[in-house]
Amino acid sequence: MAIILGIESSCDETSASICINGEIHSNVIATQAIHAKYGGVVPELASRAHQQNIIPTVDEAIRQAKISKNHIDAVSFTRGPGLLGALLVGTSFAKSFALAQDIPLIDINHMQAHILAHFIEEPKPSFPFLCLTVSGGHTQIVLVKDYFEMELLGETLDDAAGEAFDKTAKILNLPYPGGPLIDKFAKEGNSSSYKLPEPQIPGLNFSFSGLKTAILYLVQDQLKLNPDFLTENMADLCASVQSRIVSILLNKLKKAAKQTGVKDIAIAGGVSANSGLRKGLIEMGELYHWNVFIPKFEYCTDNAAMIAIAGYYKFLKGEFVGQDVAPMARMHL
Ligand code: KG4
Ligand code: ZN
Repeated sequence: MAIILGIESSCDETSASICINGEIHSNVIATQAIHAKYGGVVPELASRAHQQNIIPTVDEAIRQAKISKNHIDAVSFTRGPGLLGALLVGTSFAKSFALAQDIPLIDINHMQAHILAHFIEEPKPSFPFLCLTVSGGHTQIVLVKDYFEMELLGETLDDAAGEAFDKTAKILNLPYPGGPLIDKFAKEGNSSSYKLPEPQIPGLNFSFSGLKTAILYLVQDQLKLNPDFLTENMADLCASVQSRIVSILLNKLKKAAKQTGVKDIAIAGGVSANSGLRKGLIEMGELYHWNVFIPKFEYCTDNAAMIAIAGYYKFLKGEFVGQDVAPMARMHL
């Protein structure tokens, strides 16, 4: 019997989850709405909100799992990558909790956890598999050889895919986070309305900064001709942007699959909630006879269930850290 408490606080969601023998029994997420009016996450405000939310969030996760805190066998927490002040709150809480309860402490890499979210429920991919991890801060193609043995095959050279969504949304006058809004408008639009460039980056790396600039110039030019350009063409603009971001991502994934010969293909991270990416991956999977793995929506964006499940697999290996552990804003796979 192993009961793990998972804690996530790397960016703007405070989350706690209880995992019992590899099964998630609660996953409580306190979203910080405060950032919307600033057009992006304000690190100082994020730390403050984590500090306020962490104890009620953990209490609620314990309550929903119908256990008592004395039943918990270990606590796992996001050590990085992320905002340092935000990570410090989760890390300090986890250390204090482990010390008070006299239980082991488990450090988790947030990007590994996004990938390990695939082990929360069936169907689970088998090793080795490829994972396209796309979030607000990262865009990576990872060869996953085992639970904690991951090889980075490609990554973004500038903006992350989520950042490309959020920054273009800002140009389109949409509030933060723009990704889900672009997704929503795109459903009503025509994706071939605007021709946006596909960057020619060698290998399996990505670049999204050119796309952002192309959209900026397009919008600036059109606004001079028609001040209502944005409102009149929002759906077509969003559909065109989304379709280009998705094609950049999927073309590299296709290349990685060809290069490695791997047929189990997964996506993870906040942008894997995007309906265009999910649909595009399913279609590509049918074409190339891949086994495709797409997480449930609740496990795409930041959550502690993925930290708890990753903690469970480290618990089985007996991989613990001491009270001198410190968070890391930058942390490799
Ligand atoms: O993984 P995540 O929750 O946090 C980070 O670790 O960064 O990812 C957040 C990112 C944001 O950029 C957000 O706009 C994007 O995921 N996102 C989406 C969608 N839902 C969230 N992007 C496109 N379409 C969506 N449906
Ligand atoms: Zn994330």
